[in-house]
Amino acid sequence: MNTSVIEAIERQKTTNLYDASKSIPDDEIRELVRLATFSPTAFHLQNWRFIAVRSPEAKARLRAVAADQPKVTEAAVTFIMVGELAVADVMADRLAGSVAAGFMPVEMVPGWEAAAKSLYFEKPQTQRDEAIRSATFGASGLIHAAQAMGLGTTPMIGFDPVGVSREFSLSASADFGRARVRVTLLTSAGRVSHQPRRTLGRSVVW
Ligand SMILES: Cc1cc2nc3c(=O)[nH]c(=O)nc-3n(C[C@H](O)[C@H](O)[C@H](O)COP(=O)(O)O)c2cc1C
Repeated sequence: MNTSVIEAIERQKTTNLYDASKSIPDDEIRELVRLATFSPTAFHLQNWRFIAVRSPEAKARLRAVAADQPKVTEAAVTFIMVGELAVADVMADRLAGSVAAGFMPVEMVPGWEAAAKSLYFEKPQTQRDEAIRSATFGASGLIHAAQAMGLGTTPMIGFDPVGVSREFSLSASADFGRARVRVTLLTSAGRVSHQPRRTLGRSVVW
């Protein structure tokens, strides 16, 4: 039994107060996302994007469409968790790494494409459900990774999805190519704030 994983699960707690003076280096943000992407997705579609909102200007724009929640500006970063609507025609691209690494024979790919097509083609509700499932698994992985890295997190549904899409040009973004996307969740991450203590000089006696 891996007790460190169990302890991390048991210690999990949503953060309400962040230390706004502490940023997180971009390398740490990348590491968080790298760990989050170990989360599973249907057909290994990896149909998620983690938009890291970390500049003061972008955080203020996000907060304005996130019910004015202070965590959005106080946390070092807030991820806009985006799920791509699930479609079969990205399958070859998404499985290419697995084929190249020998996890999957190339002959299997058309079968997976056919299965995904029968599940998602012209089924907007199923496509949307899959987008939300994938991005939610991603957020969950990110939350546990953040905890292991000593960071607090807050998942947030208090936001206006139309406003977030507009402010961050999600439908028009070059990064998303032709993919149609769904904003699923916001997830803040940052150093947790503790109640201020008196200066050490007033506490320690030599
Ligand atoms: C889908 C979802 C949406 C949430 N939305 C918000 C939110 O908008 N703002 C917030 O401060 N907390 C939000 N939370 C955090 C919950 O309030 C928190 O997880 C719950 O109170 C339980 O506390 P715990 O995570 O410390 O056990 C959300 C949690 C989830 C899972």
